[in-house]
Amino acid sequence: MVDVSRHDVVIVGGGGAGLRAAIAASELNPEISIALVSKVYPMRSHTVSAEGGAAAIARDDDSLEMHGYDTVKGSDFLGDQDVIQYFVEQAPKELTRLEHWGCPWSRNEDGSVATRAFGGMSTKRTWYATDKVGFHMLHTLFQTSMKFGNVDRYDEHFVTKLLVDGGVCRGVAALDIRTGEMKAILGKAVILTTGGGGKVWPFTTNGNIKTGDGMSLAYREGVPLKDMEFVQYHPTGLPGTGILITEATRGEGGYLLNNEGERFLVTRDYGVGNKAELGPRDMISRAITQEIAAGRGVEIPGKPGRYAHLDLRHIGEEKIMARLPFVRELSKAYANVDPVHEPIPIRPVLHYMMGGVDTDIEARTSLDGLYAAGEVACVSLNGANRLGSNSLTECLVFGARAGEHATEYIKGASVGEEGPFVQQAEAEAARIDAFRGRQRGGEKIAKVREDMNTAMEDGTGVYREQASMAKAVKDIAELRQRFEQVSLDDSSKIFNTELIAGLELGNMLDVAEAVTWAAVQRKESRGAHACSDYPTRNDTEYLHHSLVYHSPEGPRFDKKEVTLGVWEPEERKY
Ligand code: FUM
Repeated sequence: MVDVSRHDVVIVGGGGAGLRAAIAASELNPEISIALVSKVYPMRSHTVSAEGGAAAIARDDDSLEMHGYDTVKGSDFLGDQDVIQYFVEQAPKELTRLEHWGCPWSRNEDGSVATRAFGGMSTKRTWYATDKVGFHMLHTLFQTSMKFGNVDRYDEHFVTKLLVDGGVCRGVAALDIRTGEMKAILGKAVILTTGGGGKVWPFTTNGNIKTGDGMSLAYREGVPLKDMEFVQYHPTGLPGTGILITEATRGEGGYLLNNEGERFLVTRDYGVGNKAELGPRDMISRAITQEIAAGRGVEIPGKPGRYAHLDLRHIGEEKIMARLPFVRELSKAYANVDPVHEPIPIRPVLHYMMGGVDTDIEARTSLDGLYAAGEVACVSLNGANRLGSNSLTECLVFGARAGEHATEYIKGASVGEEGPFVQQAEAEAARIDAFRGRQRGGEKIAKVREDMNTAMEDGTGVYREQASMAKAVKDIAELRQRFEQVSLDDSSKIFNTELIAGLELGNMLDVAEAVTWAAVQRKESRGAHACSDYPTRNDTEYLHHSLVYHSPEGPRFDKKEVTLGVWEPEERKY
């Protein structure tokens, strides 16, 4: 028999969006019981690693209209404009609220909130707390969540299944990683806030925990994944590790140079106009990729591949230490380079998924009782290319919206007959028991994961081709077969990390399937989907969201209309 606990709202994921949802729900109704379920201790959520900042207007030379337009244009006109309008209106309120809860935003001399420039933004709009923004935001949210007595945390619990019966979601089956026991955590609404799945690719800024778990949970229950072909390559990842060197470096004046010391974004036409290094990420990543392909990449002795140089030397030690101390620390520790004296080698690195679980503006999915917010979700804020620093704010705005809406929703909802949900959790416990220590074939988790990474890098890189995407579709289908033959060496229950790695691999293969399926259908270039065979945007045929549905027979593809109405699609030029 599985252990059964009962709550009103169950939140899966303890990062920025999850904590914000918990706070919003608690503030709206302190009487309700909230479960916060996370596979890691919340302070280890990936939000902690965000560096550069969060976007919201704060200056006289800015406006909601400008933030909205920048976001729409950055999205290559695939963002839903009602969502974008709501987002920009809420953004300043959320960041101010965070300050009231204790977030130490950096200040100008006159005491006003300091802002810095980020890519694709038309003015300095990114609020920051030196270059440790995620760390400060996560601390602020976590400590604020602790003042509510109604939030029960399930740290180090890995959710393996949504409990769904009669078309409604009423809880989760979660494995207590510490004991290996399965629990049924019931609720009248479930909110997914588990982040993205960057570990599907080999070279990524994402921490090991980002394995697309929430996307897979929803996908398996028939909820479509939206716009999965759009994955963001951040221009500046450190060699080897892929560690993020924040865009704030360029916001503070950093240059990108090729092996001739040329500032190629200024001297050559990469479509970014006078924004130069502060062009949007999709364009800058393509520019670096083209420079390397043209033989102008920088070599690093002992390291494979070619890079560009990120030069901060002219910024000077004082400003680097005041605004970018963490960048200096990371560069010294992981690239053996002191940016005060030497340029930092970098190359484009997988950073963020614009796609995710399809939600409406209320963060609702098509499954009754199920919500999603943050990177796991696709509310359609980011379209085909996210602007840097919009995502932390997105976690706040739509985390809050999900928490509030779910709290309203549960007024009219009940778990009803618990039996079917508990039985599902029991069946899930049996499935996990069978997987633990499974001896089936000769496949190993690490090898299947490595081959998945290779297939995804080859098929869905900065540039894609129909042939390479079609091959990736086939490769992922084969890898799913091979996953069925994976054997595990560890059959123990307590902290069985091999078991968790196996479950995460299954989730990543779901994500990889949806990404490759969506990518191969889009025969145009838009935002981060740069398709060499179809180099231009084609609004006549492709101004739509893509939806991928899971089915036992294989994925099913569909389309969804983009909400326009404020800004007319136009050629995206900077
Ligand atoms: O470059 C960065 O600091 C990343 C920020 C973001 O992804 O929004």
